[in-house]
Amino acid sequence: MIRFERIHKSYPVAGREVVALHPLDLEIRAGEVFGIVGHSGAGKSTLLRLINGLETPSGGTLTVDGERLDALDADGLRRLRRRVGMIFQHFNLLSAKTVLDNIAFPLLLAGTPKAQARARAEALLARVGLEAHRDKYPAQLSGGQKQRVGVARALATDPKILLCDEATSALDPQTTASVLQLLDGINRELGLTIVLITHEMDVIRRVCDRVAVLDAGHLVESGPVSEVFLHPRHATTRRFVAESEATDEGVLHEDFAHVEGRLLRLTFTGAETYQPLLGRVARETGIDYTILAGRIDRIKRLPYGQLTLAVVGERADEAIARFAESGVHVEALPR
Ligand SMILES: Nc1ncnc2c1ncn2[C@@H]1O[C@H](COP(=O)(O)OP(=O)(O)OP(=O)(O)O)[C@@H](O)[C@H]1O
Ligand SMILES: [Mg+2]
Repeated sequence: MIRFERIHKSYPVAGREVVALHPLDLEIRAGEVFGIVGHSGAGKSTLLRLINGLETPSGGTLTVDGERLDALDADGLRRLRRRVGMIFQHFNLLSAKTVLDNIAFPLLLAGTPKAQARARAEALLARVGLEAHRDKYPAQLSGGQKQRVGVARALATDPKILLCDEATSALDPQTTASVLQLLDGINRELGLTIVLITHEMDVIRRVCDRVAVLDAGHLVESGPVSEVFLHPRHATTRRFVAESEATDEGVLHEDFAHVEGRLLRLTFTGAETYQPLLGRVARETGIDYTILAGRIDRIKRLPYGQLTLAVVGERADEAIARFAESGVHVEALPR
């Protein structure tokens, strides 16, 4: 659906070239929710803005919905932009227009007759659950409601792709969850491809299917969220995961220094998460264990558990083998 081939981007600043993105390859598939996570200045917005032609690459080939962007003339680019909706951190609503008029606006710009534009806006208003607010102005809405208007407006031209630039960063955790749920529903019901950028791994964990990690303009890691989140390889990814779990590995290891036994991290996914495996293996092998840290949660709809254990007992090796045989991912942690 979206293919970056050796795409790079620099900005001229005071006679010098500032590199925002180093050459990168990336493919975003039709119908998936793709997340891009990175710190401030990593190049996330630049990458997103390349997709709808708000920025032009300095080199490489970018294909969006079957069209090479560098081959499009102004009219072609306009038509493409109608197939690519976008929502923003600060909503970017028109303050002098009502909720309904904000949503109808892109349609009027595209030449849709007024009555038709309003009818479509009404339907979208219902889709995002804001019927009761149709005649209000943006200043009269909460952040979450404003973002719902943003989503409805982005959907007005019936796009195939929705770009989200830090769409939940200005919202509290509960409102964030409800907006993410709205995006998830839209993705499933309309089959819309969603590209979402964020600096929070937790946002990625809740809605994305696959993720790429950007670090200072370099794409350092990418893959299915369950892979990247549970087994991060790059130091930057590990930091993002640690932040989202509010655990600091360094501190944890200090705390565990006096704990007896072998330190293991077990990762369960899917149905295994709810199996009474620990107790069974402990009984069968006579080992003892202490749970030092852990979390049981979901990655999108996939249940997972990740436990850090100290294991003592003569048959610890056998226990580790049993865990591994049961499909649990076992990692020995350094002491
Ligand atoms: N229009 C511009 N002119 C010059 N430099 C720019 C421009 N836009 C972005 N940059 C630079 O490119 C780099 C990447 O910026 P970008 O906005 O893509 O980062 P980001 O990951 O979205 O950051 P944030 O999380 O703060 O929004 C930064 O060093 C930034 O200063
Ligand atoms: Mg940005």
